Amino acid sequence: MRISVIGCGYLGAVHAACMAKLGHSVVGIDVDERKIAELASAKAPFYEPGLEELLKDVQETGSLTFTTDISAAAGSNVHFICVGTPQKKGENAADLTFVDAAVQGLLPYLSSGDVVVGKSTVPVGTASRLAGVIGQSEPEAHLVWNPEFLREGHAVSDTLRPDRLVYGVSDGAEHNPCVEVLDEVYAIPLSTGTPRLVTDLPTAELVKTAANSFLATKISFINAMAELCDAAGADVTRLADAIGLDDRIGRKFLNAGIGFGGGCLPKDIRAFMARAGELGADQALTFLREVDAINMRRRSRVVELTRELCGDGLLGKRITVLGAAFKPESDDVRDSPALSIAAQLQLQGAVVTVTDPKALDNAARRFPELQYVQDVDLALEKADAVLLLTEWTEYKELDPHLLAKSVSAPRILDGRNVLDPAKWRSAGWQYRGLGRP
Ligand code: UDX
Repeated sequence: MRISVIGCGYLGAVHAACMAKLGHSVVGIDVDERKIAELASAKAPFYEPGLEELLKDVQETGSLTFTTDISAAAGSNVHFICVGTPQKKGENAADLTFVDAAVQGLLPYLSSGDVVVGKSTVPVGTASRLAGVIGQSEPEAHLVWNPEFLREGHAVSDTLRPDRLVYGVSDGAEHNPCVEVLDEVYAIPLSTGTPRLVTDLPTAELVKTAANSFLATKISFINAMAELCDAAGADVTRLADAIGLDDRIGRKFLNAGIGFGGGCLPKDIRAFMARAGELGADQALTFLREVDAINMRRRSRVVELTRELCGDGLLGKRITVLGAAFKPESDDVRDSPALSIAAQLQLQGAVVTVTDPKALDNAARRFPELQYVQDVDLALEKADAVLLLTEWTEYKELDPHLLAKSVSAPRILDGRNVLDPAKWRSAGWQYRGLGRP
């Protein structure tokens, strides 16, 4: 099929490359010239495992091109909207400027029978509004909502082999002509048994926000348990292992630590609450306010624990923060709890050095006042305390014996509960986890 992908960020760049890999002829479109220039020369504009190899692979076949010119969408029969929906400045609601601009930009190039496919996360009701806009301009074009569930760091495999496909269509009916079109787009994953659900437009929009809210709630639940474990002298990691063995609960997303961040969960739960308020259903989601509050409390808790760990206050203390990205295998620092903690420590008088294998450039743009050192050994030299805040494998594998020789004082705060406390303590370290005795 001929496909256009509008928006080539964390979602769209991966989606465009994966659609080409699935055998389609794809044009990726974005207003950012630098991003497009990089993608056009098969360079990934951000770190995502496997993306650069995939770009090289499909560009050699000629089935993937990139441009800043939206008129290149003309001639495609399927148009994916993959632009961002960030949090509005000073408000909880989602900012739909980019989605609206993408649809407006596309209108002159739509033809009869074209299918516009929304993948961006939007407040419920957006799809039907956009369907109206499209219908006024090209009555024979259609809109489908097909939410994306990819995780950064696993984006390529999540797109090529999704765990489910959701098609929201105007009448919610299996025989809607758009279903057949999307079945052709996703023929390969469908042929291997990927479940596919056809719903109406609002249900499809809600599936995405509901899934992210559930995940955020699961993380905040275990972080609330970590607070209790701290108060009671219990171990939240063993608690999670034990409750996780109940397969109605499951062990995934029960890792207590510094909480969730990134470009999705935090802003999605806030936009969801804002939208529920507009719909007069705000009571249904008041629990998400608590989910958000528990999550934000993790950051201040780590600052307080670091102060305790350092003994006599933070002023002038050299703190090394391992990890800036919001999660490992990503260079994304949007709402990164690690970086937010680093900045709070610096504001309270500590001298903070941050290291990360991939995210330092993005981090330096976000918080230029922090010191960034790429080399882990250099970053750790003479530290008064070390904070492991993003669980990159190389940090989990650090040797406590070797490390003890280069720091000023062997104190470590394990913000992701991924280190073996006994091993670190026996190497002479003062170890603190979160919700661990
Ligand atoms: C999330 C959803 O998982 C994905 O389906 C959706 O499409 C986009 O939002 P992503 O933001 O890439 O994906 O990251 P995810 O793996 O969900 O992690 C989110 C945050 O939660 C990270 O900061 C991570 O460190 C944190 N987390 C995750 C925990 O603190 N504990 C856990 O047990 C799991």
